[in-house]
Amino acid sequence: MSAQQPEDVYSHGHHESVVRAHASRTAENSAAFVIPHLTPGASVLDVGCGPGSITCDFAGLVSPGKSRGWTARPR
Ligand SMILES: C[S@@+](CC[C@H](N)C(=O)[O-])C[C@H]1O[C@@H](n2cnc3c(N)ncnc32)[C@H](O)[C@@H]1O
Repeated sequence: MSAQQPEDVYSHGHHESVVRAHASRTAENSAAFVIPHLTPGASVLDVGCGPGSITCDFAGLVSPGKSRGWTARPR
């Protein structure tokens, strides 16, 4: 017997307009609650980072630490 997994689908989709809206986000305007926890040298894994604008801001805040993003790819 094989179990079938439902396909992962991001319900908002990855239309260009959706991605553009996400790409305009910054750590300050969309993740301010995390900023006090980001210290130089820290490591960040941003799961569901989308286009990664917030992930890039995190990189500046934790430098010389690393900020990496992981996101589902469009189908
Ligand atoms: C609402 S967007 C937010 C993007 C970014 N974090 C931001 O705040 O601008 C959510 C993102 O998570 C991704 N995503 C959804 N489910 C995921 C999963 N199971 N694993 C990884 N990424 C996922 C989607 O592809 C989408 O790019």
